[in-house]
Amino acid sequence: MSRQILVTSALPYANGSIHLGHLVEYIQTDIWVRFQKMRGHDCRYMCADDTHGTAIMLRAEKEGVTPETLIGRVWDEHTRDFAGFNIGFDHYYSTHSDENRELASKIYLRLREAGLIEVKTIAQLYDPVKNLFLPDRFIKGECPKCGAADQYGDNCEVCGATYSPTELKNPVSAVSGTTPVHKDSEHYFFKLGDCEAFLREWTKSGALQDEAANKMQEWFASGLNNWDISRDAPYFGFEIPDAPGKYFYVWLDAPVGYMASFAKYAADNGLDFDAWWGADSKTELVHFIGKDILYFHALFWPAMLKFSGHRLPTAVYAHGFLTVNGQKMSKSRGTFITAESYLAQKLNPEWLRYYYAAKLNGSMEDIDLNLDDFVARVNSDLVGKFINIASRTAGFIHKNFDGKLADGVANLELIADFQAAANTIAAHYEARDYSRALREIMALADRANQYVADEKPWELAKKPEAVYRLHEVCTVALNCFRLLTLYLKPVLPKLAGEVEAFLNIPSLAWEDAQSLFIRHRINAYNHLMTRIDPKSIEAMVDANKQNLEPTPAPAPVRHAEAQVHAAQPATVPVADTISIDDFAKIDLRIARIANAEHVEGADKLLRLTLDVGELGTRQVFAGIKSAYAPEALVGRLTVVVANLAPRKMKFGMSEGMVLAASGEAPGLFILSPDSGAQPGMKVK
Ligand code: MSP
Ligand code: ZN
Repeated sequence: MSRQILVTSALPYANGSIHLGHLVEYIQTDIWVRFQKMRGHDCRYMCADDTHGTAIMLRAEKEGVTPETLIGRVWDEHTRDFAGFNIGFDHYYSTHSDENRELASKIYLRLREAGLIEVKTIAQLYDPVKNLFLPDRFIKGECPKCGAADQYGDNCEVCGATYSPTELKNPVSAVSGTTPVHKDSEHYFFKLGDCEAFLREWTKSGALQDEAANKMQEWFASGLNNWDISRDAPYFGFEIPDAPGKYFYVWLDAPVGYMASFAKYAADNGLDFDAWWGADSKTELVHFIGKDILYFHALFWPAMLKFSGHRLPTAVYAHGFLTVNGQKMSKSRGTFITAESYLAQKLNPEWLRYYYAAKLNGSMEDIDLNLDDFVARVNSDLVGKFINIASRTAGFIHKNFDGKLADGVANLELIADFQAAANTIAAHYEARDYSRALREIMALADRANQYVADEKPWELAKKPEAVYRLHEVCTVALNCFRLLTLYLKPVLPKLAGEVEAFLNIPSLAWEDAQSLFIRHRINAYNHLMTRIDPKSIEAMVDANKQNLEPTPAPAPVRHAEAQVHAAQPATVPVADTISIDDFAKIDLRIARIANAEHVEGADKLLRLTLDVGELGTRQVFAGIKSAYAPEALVGRLTVVVANLAPRKMKFGMSEGMVLAASGEAPGLFILSPDSGAQPGMKVK
């Protein structure tokens, strides 16, 4: 029976580029959607950009454009990148749309009618220079638990504590650099606590993976906090009905964006919105998400749907996070790879689709992109095993049989086995266990290659009496090839399209697995896929290597944090973890600034002469001229990296580096030790 399935992927933030981490999700979803469509189901894939929030507002301001201009430009980039990876959305919309404003307001009003909204006055940190309440990620200060400096407003990277930004010691606004003040304001809360009984029931509905259902139990055990769904002006978003100057928090209207994307699509395509979203809808609603946003999709979202009179999700499928070469993606290592940079190297998007599919198993485990393994795996499986079957046999059909396949097949048993695999492979796709699906498919490819190797068509072609046999063998091999193409089609849609053109057949659907491929004229074989050249991988990594200038980094969102706060992207990157051994390689020493002077012709540098005790005297050029007059430095103690390789600069050798602090806020601050420290002492 044909199913009606509405599928979504999480809506990517409109303030950053699509990277290979995101693509895990869009590729995972796209494969599932393509599979469902091949099965003949009525499946619609909806997505949109997630456009609201303070981060986007501030970024637009920085670039001197309106938020609308910024999100328009990012929409163009995102849709271009997704198209580049053959992600086949049926509709890709924006949360900044009329449909979304209406639906978000309607849902809010229904929740209010249901008695689930309360208004409370809370104190928050406020930037008196920018006249702005500060989101957690825009406040830095000292951890209230361990005292570590330079921590975000919501959790400490050093001791792992989570807290409220008002607890931070010596907080500083990352927007203006000023000290924020406490300011009261009325906030609107969604009473999630009142939804607990319903949510406990819903957890058992089978919509969640076991791992996710377990996580829910932990959340219930630690208690459900009511959810702050309002933000004060200025904010880029939708104003709350009957609450002038108050805006829906971005995470309130973001999931409604799934609905809004569908609403627009339904209007354009003559579908009945209520049949898909009404409380007694018979259709399926399937959300693909990353594990970092489970809290939003497994608690807030079903509660919002339920108590506003809508249908509930049929399934919420969470995947793990991408690591590259076993580590978190890193800008300094060049493994924070953008979708755009991959395509710019002319790397085939289907290589990545294949590799991710080979790793995805439907669980919440993280998946690793090992770049060497990527090259080896794709070259061996796709080119060495799959394409090889056609490239070794198609030529004979052309040369000897005028492009026509035989009237029957010799090895029916082999083909029958290939056909019988259709159900097992389908079950693996359905369960999102693509890794097992591909293992089955490659095992079949091995058998087809073995068949060709045993029959040796290139030898048959030399014997005139074997011409009939040659025809049959090549026809069997191409039957196998056609079936492998069909099974791989959800993963490799573009390649499958090229094979369909070569085989001269209509678009393959799953049920075509049961037919034989005989008495048919195929087109000439042109090479279908090349091997990956490892050099282009190196070039891609190089192109993504950045010196860690303060550019936006993706915020790794922790579960604990997601409970109380939203996933807002970080604005300041945190460098990768290093081991104590790595740290020990840096020889930090106390130095006395014996002399400091201007450098002729340099507008940023001062020439410092440092007394480093037992290590002698060093000359160092430091880019601190904007902050210090030379005479103010003479005699001061500071900290120097003593074992930095000497660098030849325009003005002479620099034999070390003086440490200074700087951030988004103006100013530059060189470090000094407490009194009593002596030149030459080790700093560790
Ligand atoms: N805007 C929210 C989602 C709102 S849904 C109503 C968001 N955006 S995001 O751009 O940060 O992430 C979009 C999706 O990509 C999320 O599901 C997230 O888990 C996923 N990924 C982002 N980085 C990822 C990796 N490094 N690895 C795997 N998935 C990742 O969250
Ligand atoms: Zn701490």
